[in-house]
Amino acid sequence: MPVAPFDIVVFGGTGDLARRKLLPSLFHRFCDGQIADNSRIIGVSRSDHSREEYQKLISDAYHEFSQEDDFDAAQWKKFSSLLYYYSIDVMDDTADWSEFAALFKGAEEKTRVFYLAMPPRMYARICEGLKAAGCVSDIARVVLEKPIGTDFESARAINAGVGKVFDENNIYRIDHYLGKETVQNLLVLRFANILLEPLWSHSAIEHVQITAAESIGVGGRGAYYDGAGALRDMVQNHLLQLLCLTAMEAPASLKADDVRTEKIKVLRALRSISEDDIEEMTIRGQYARGMLVDGHFAKDYLTDVDVNQSSTESFVAIKAYIDNWRWAGVPFYLRTGKRMAERRSEIVIQFKAVPHSVFGGDTQVNANRLVIRLQPDEAVKLWMEIKEPGAGGMRLKTLPLNLSYADNFTVRYPDAYERLLMDVVRGNLSLFMRRDEVEAAWKWVDQIHAGWDSTEQRVELYPAGEDGPRESGDMLERNGHAWNSESVTAEKT
Ligand code: BG6
Repeated sequence: MPVAPFDIVVFGGTGDLARRKLLPSLFHRFCDGQIADNSRIIGVSRSDHSREEYQKLISDAYHEFSQEDDFDAAQWKKFSSLLYYYSIDVMDDTADWSEFAALFKGAEEKTRVFYLAMPPRMYARICEGLKAAGCVSDIARVVLEKPIGTDFESARAINAGVGKVFDENNIYRIDHYLGKETVQNLLVLRFANILLEPLWSHSAIEHVQITAAESIGVGGRGAYYDGAGALRDMVQNHLLQLLCLTAMEAPASLKADDVRTEKIKVLRALRSISEDDIEEMTIRGQYARGMLVDGHFAKDYLTDVDVNQSSTESFVAIKAYIDNWRWAGVPFYLRTGKRMAERRSEIVIQFKAVPHSVFGGDTQVNANRLVIRLQPDEAVKLWMEIKEPGAGGMRLKTLPLNLSYADNFTVRYPDAYERLLMDVVRGNLSLFMRRDEVEAAWKWVDQIHAGWDSTEQRVELYPAGEDGPRESGDMLERNGHAWNSESVTAEKT
C-alpha cells in the first residue's frame, strides 16, 4: 500500500549519502509499492544540473554503489519521473529562494520532508532560509544527519537554531543504526521473550560488550574524520544508542516518547569518567600500516588522512558503568575502530558463572554467553553447556543455540535508510533521537575528550588488520574479562 503522496527535498542531493544511500533506498521502497506516483523527490545542491542530468547522475550512482540484483529497469524509468532537481547556494545571503518556494504551490496538503544531508553547521541556516521562503508548514518535517555538532555546545546551538523553525515533533534526528533490522530485533528479543528479562540485570550478567569493528580505513573522508575521531563519529551516536536499547527498561509502548524517555534515563545514569579514571577506563588507538586478513597491505592512518601528525583516534575502547539499580557494578565495554581485523558489529551479554559447580573441581564449566550479531551474518547465538556424548565420564561442551537470519529468512534485507525514510514520511519518530538524548550523549563524550586533553593520554598504535591496540584487551583483563574473539571470517572458511 503506498503512503499518501509526499514531497521529499534532499539538500546535498548530489552528495555521497544521497547517491549511495538515500536515493537507492527510495527506489527500493518505490519498487515495494510504498511510494505513490505523484510523490516528488527533489535533489538540491549548488551545482548546475538540468533535471535530465540529475536523473542520469542518480542512475549512474545506483549502478556504481548498489546491488545490481535489486535493479529493475522498468521500475527505474517510473521512479526517475519522480526526480526533480533545483540548484541553490544555501549559504549565499543573496540567494533567491522564491523560485524554490514556488515548487510547493498547490502542494500545501502534501507531507513535505526536508532532508539535510549537509554539514551540520549549515542546518540552522537552511532552516531559516526555508522559513523565510514560506516553505515551512505545520506538516513540514526536517531530517538531520549525524553528527549533530562536534560537542555539547555546538549541538545545543544547532538544535536551538533548527528548533526556532521546526517544532521538536517535526525534527527527525537520524542514527542509521536504529534502522538496521538486527538493531530493531533487539527490542523484539528483549521485549517479546519472557525468558531473558529475569536474567537481564546485575544479578545474572557479569558484563556486556558492544563492538562495532570495521575493516575499512578512513577512505576519502580523511578531512572530516581527522577532526572527528572514533569517539565522535561512532560512540556518541551508534554505540550509545545500542547501549541504550540494551540497557533500558521496558517502555510502556513503542511510541516515540515512551522509547525515548527510557533511553534518556540510561544516558543520564552513565557514570562520568573523570580525569583520574580516564586511563583506566578508556583506550584510544590509531592504526599503523599492516596486513589485512585478505592479504592486502594497508597504509597507516596518517598517510590515509594525509597529515604528518595527528592524535585523532581511529579506535576507541571504553569501560562504562550505568549507575542504576539494574546495572550496578556491571561493566559495559564499548569498542569501535577502523582497519580492524574484520567488519563485525555485535552485542555480547556475558552471564555469570553458576554459583557452585556440582561437576567437581577439575571440570571447567563455562558461563553462558548471548551473542547478538548485528552485522554481517546476522544471528543470535546463545552459548550453553551441554554434555558431550560417549564414554569418558561427565564431559562438558560449550555449544550455541544458533538463530541465524540467513538460515531462517530469504527476504532481501532492506538498508537501514529505507525504513527510516519511510518512518519520516509516516510521521513515526520512535527510531529517531530526541534533542535531550543527543545532548546527553555529547555531554558524556565531551568529558572523555576533556580527560584525554588534560592528561595527554597516549594514542596507542595498532597494526591495520588487528583488533585494536593490545591495551584494549588489557583493560578487560584487569577485570578478569576478555573480548569475544569469535571471527566471522573464520566461521565462513
Ligand atoms: C557512519 C560513520 O555513521 O557509520 C562511518 O560516520 C562508519 O565512519 C559508518 O563507517 C558505519 O556504518 P555501517 O552501517 O557500515 O556499520
